[in-house]
Amino acid sequence: MPQLAQRMSRAKPSAIMVIADNAKRLKAEGRDIISFSIGVPNFLPGEHVYAAVREALNHDSGQYGSNRGSDALLDAFLAHLRGLGLDGYNRSHCATGIGAKQVLYNLYEALLDEGDTIAFPTPYWTSYLDIAEIIGAKVLALPCPAEQNYKLTPAQLDAALASKPKVFLFNNPSNPTGMVYTPAEVAALAEVLVRHPDTWIITDDIYNKMLFDGLAYTNFVQVRPELRERVIFVDSLSKTYGMPGWRVGFMAGPEAVAKAITVLNSNHITNIPEITTAAAIAALTGPQDVPSARCAEFQSKRDLVMTALATIPGVVCPKPQGAFYVFPDISCAFGKSHNGTRIGNDVELCAALLDAKGVACVPGSAFGEPRALRISYTCPTPQLAPGMQRIQEFFAELV
Ligand SMILES: Cc1ncc(COP(=O)(O)O)c(C=O)c1O
Repeated sequence: MPQLAQRMSRAKPSAIMVIADNAKRLKAEGRDIISFSIGVPNFLPGEHVYAAVREALNHDSGQYGSNRGSDALLDAFLAHLRGLGLDGYNRSHCATGIGAKQVLYNLYEALLDEGDTIAFPTPYWTSYLDIAEIIGAKVLALPCPAEQNYKLTPAQLDAALASKPKVFLFNNPSNPTGMVYTPAEVAALAEVLVRHPDTWIITDDIYNKMLFDGLAYTNFVQVRPELRERVIFVDSLSKTYGMPGWRVGFMAGPEAVAKAITVLNSNHITNIPEITTAAAIAALTGPQDVPSARCAEFQSKRDLVMTALATIPGVVCPKPQGAFYVFPDISCAFGKSHNGTRIGNDVELCAALLDAKGVACVPGSAFGEPRALRISYTCPTPQLAPGMQRIQEFFAELV
């Protein structure tokens, strides 16, 4: 039999999907499972999105569309960018994709040759590493443990950029930690970026509308406009608008990069479907009450989770201020046992927790931080307190 390409020996299925599928299987077998695993927003978009889709079906051309994205969709995205404080872009600076994941995949392909280095803070979203491995890029992981609130410091960034990585990838608010960089922290990092002109900067800020405690979203180009020629902003409808399965992602950045993404699209996906485009335009330009109501709900869910975690001796958890994740350091449990099962690491802890209590969380090692686990708290509200109570019981039963 002929062999698969060598790069497939480096490709692995998303660790989060593996755990989510496991939880689904146990549920199907009749187990009482509460899933805090996959990062889905768990709400549906507003009725106006469905109305736009029905209307679009009446006029469907059935044709191929623009590789970049339709003009109307790009204009809706540009208005959204202005709303975020990102002015001065036009259609030629933008491109679309099948979710932010595919936009990121395209960006890796467009910016990194095999052997080039991409630097990003750890903990990181799993695909940052997985895509690098597939395309043969080297990873420079910048450790940002709980003791530094999971945030990158300007000194760390300065040291990392001294080795001239081709790309620096930044994620704010963060998946998996939920941490949000304050405007002052973004400004301090931007100061460093200005001094290192040889590195592209990708800001994956798809949770930019999910900020809590009155915190403002800030991007590098707002504080240092000269960075615009190197910053590529990535966005998505998945989380903000409750549309993960609709698969719509965006980028805004230098014209040459947007053009490269468009060329790659022409060889990969061709275009975002017409019906999805209509849904995306409606989501971006229609009433924003659904996303803002959900954001307020996530803030109170975050509070419930943090209150529960605070009662567990030894668990350390910097307070997240965005997205819908908490990322507690649970290494205090390592070396202990639960019902005779020894807990040596995060993977064993998550397996024991699922087995004993029916609660699915993602081990932190999936995000490069094996001392932690990720709780995605978007489950239906009635499941949240019982799920956290089971986690509290699990830790109380450790010997
Ligand atoms: C930080 C981050 N970037 C990108 C993505 C991909 O989003 P999309 O659904 O638009 O592909 C995710 C999804 O979980 C994410 O958390």
